[in-house]
Amino acid sequence: MGTRFIPAVDKTLLLAAIVSFIIGNTLTTLWCWLPALTCNTDRPVTTRDIGRNLGAPAGYEIKTILRVSRYEGDNNLPSDPRVTEYLGEKPCVCTGKLHKDFFSEAKWKERQKTQRASLERYTRRRPDFKDFHNQVDGLSPISYPAHGLYVRPLRAVQLEGLRIEWFDGRKQSSGADLGVKLLARRGVFKLLAAVEGVRAAGVKTASLVIRTPDPDRLNLQLQQIVYQNTEFDGNMVDIVELYFGKFNATIPIHIQHRQVTWLYPQGAGRVQDRVTVVVKAFLRYDHVRQLIASFRKFYPGTRIIVADDSPKERYQDVKEEFTHHYRMPDYAGFFAGRNLGLSQVTTEYFLYMDDDHYLKPSTKLETLMSLLDNTDFHVASGAYEDLEEFASAIRVVGNQTYACFEKLRKHYHEIDGFPDCYAADHTENFFLASTAEVKAVGFDPNPAQARVGHQEDS
Ligand SMILES: *[C@@H]1O[C@H](CO)[C@@H](O)[C@H](O)[C@H]1NC(C)=O
Ligand SMILES: *[C@@H]1O[C@H](CO)[C@@H](O)[C@H](O)[C@H]1NC(C)=O
Repeated sequence: MGTRFIPAVDKTLLLAAIVSFIIGNTLTTLWCWLPALTCNTDRPVTTRDIGRNLGAPAGYEIKTILRVSRYEGDNNLPSDPRVTEYLGEKPCVCTGKLHKDFFSEAKWKERQKTQRASLERYTRRRPDFKDFHNQVDGLSPISYPAHGLYVRPLRAVQLEGLRIEWFDGRKQSSGADLGVKLLARRGVFKLLAAVEGVRAAGVKTASLVIRTPDPDRLNLQLQQIVYQNTEFDGNMVDIVELYFGKFNATIPIHIQHRQVTWLYPQGAGRVQDRVTVVVKAFLRYDHVRQLIASFRKFYPGTRIIVADDSPKERYQDVKEEFTHHYRMPDYAGFFAGRNLGLSQVTTEYFLYMDDDHYLKPSTKLETLMSLLDNTDFHVASGAYEDLEEFASAIRVVGNQTYACFEKLRKHYHEIDGFPDCYAADHTENFFLASTAEVKAVGFDPNPAQARVGHQEDS
C-alpha cells in the first residue's frame, strides 16, 4: 500500500480506505483522483499522474509509451535452407527446348522488343489492388482503410475510418495547429460538411490540407472527407497519400465500373438444363453420330455444339435433334473450334469432349456437376477410356526473366466430400467446366498452335 491518508471526518472515505487496505492497492489511484485530497504517496509514477501534471483535458487520456527502437543488431542470421527453398517463385533450369531456339538471333531480339512493349500495355490495362504493397506502420497514429476503397468512375467515395488516434502531448498543450494533408492523382477531395473552427485549403482539388488546434474537430473533419474520381477510367487505381506530422499513409482507391455477373438460367436443374456439350470435330462423322446417340440415350435433350473444320471435299452435314453443327474454314484448328463452340454456350457449365468420345451407362455427369456446384474449382474431369491416371501438375515456374513450363504426372489433395477426386492443374480433353471462367481465359486460336492441341486422324 504505502499510502498515508489521513482524512478528517469523511466516514465513506474511511470505509474505502479500510476496504482498500484489505483488497490491495487497486483503490489507491481512485482516491488520488477524488478532488481536494492530497495524496502523497511513495508509489511509482503512473500514467494518470502524468496526465494530471500535463493537464489532460476532459475526454483525453495521456499515456506514457515505451517505444522500441528498430532492431539494429546483427541481422546476418543464417537462413534455414529448408525454409528458403520454398520462398517466392520456384527456380527452374529448362531441360527442354528454349523459346529462343525457335528464332534467329535478329528475330529473337526484335521479338523481345515487341513482347516487352506488349507486356507493358497488358499490365497497364490490368491494374490490381494486390500489386500495391501497403505497409502499415505500427507506430503511426493514423487510422485509415489500408485495404483500399472502391469507387465508380467519376463518382465519389467517403474515406471512411480516417482518424488520428493520438497526439504529441507537448505540442498539444502549446495550442499549435494540427494539420492533415491529403494528395490524390486522379481525383479531388471534397467535404461532406465543414466543421466549425477547422480551416480547409484545397477543397475540390487534388491537394487538401485541413488545420485546427483541436484534435476532436480534426477527427470530426477527417470523417467528412470524400474522394471524387475526376479522370475517367473503367479500371484504374489511384493512390491517396495522407500526411500527419512526420507520419504518412497510403490508401489505394480502385476506380472500377460495376462488374456485371454472368448468371445462367437453371431450368429444372438437370444436366440437360445446365450443361451444353462442345465438340471439336474433324472428319470422323461416325464417331460424332455415336457421341450424339449416347446423349440421346443417357441425357436426352442436351444441347450439343459441333465445331467442324473438315476440308470441304469431305464435309458432311450432321442433322440431329438438339445438335448445332457449325462449319468452320478448312483446318481452322482445334482451339479455334473450342472457342467457336464455347461462344455458343448459354448454360452455366459446358462439357468438352473430343469427337471420338461417347457416354457409357456408367458415365455420371451429375458427379462432375456436383463437384463444380460445391467447390470453387472451375474444371472437373473424369477418367475415360479406362485410363487410371491422367491428371497432371502443369505450371509456369521460374522468375520474370527465366521461366519454364513444368509438367508432372501427379495430382494434389483429395477433394473434401468427393472421394477419389483430386485437385490437379490439368486434365485430358474431357471435362465439365464453368463457362464464364473458361470464356475469360479462352483457347489460343493462333494458327501456330492450331493443330498442336490434339492430333486428329482422318
Ligand atoms: C531468375 O532465374 C534464373 C535461373 O534460376 C537466375 O539465374 C536468375 O538470377 C533469376 N533472376 C532473378 C531476377 O531472380
Ligand atoms: C512515410 O513514412 C515512412 C515511415 O513510416 C517513411 O519511411 C517515408 O519516407 C514517409 N514518406 C514520405 C513521402 O514522407
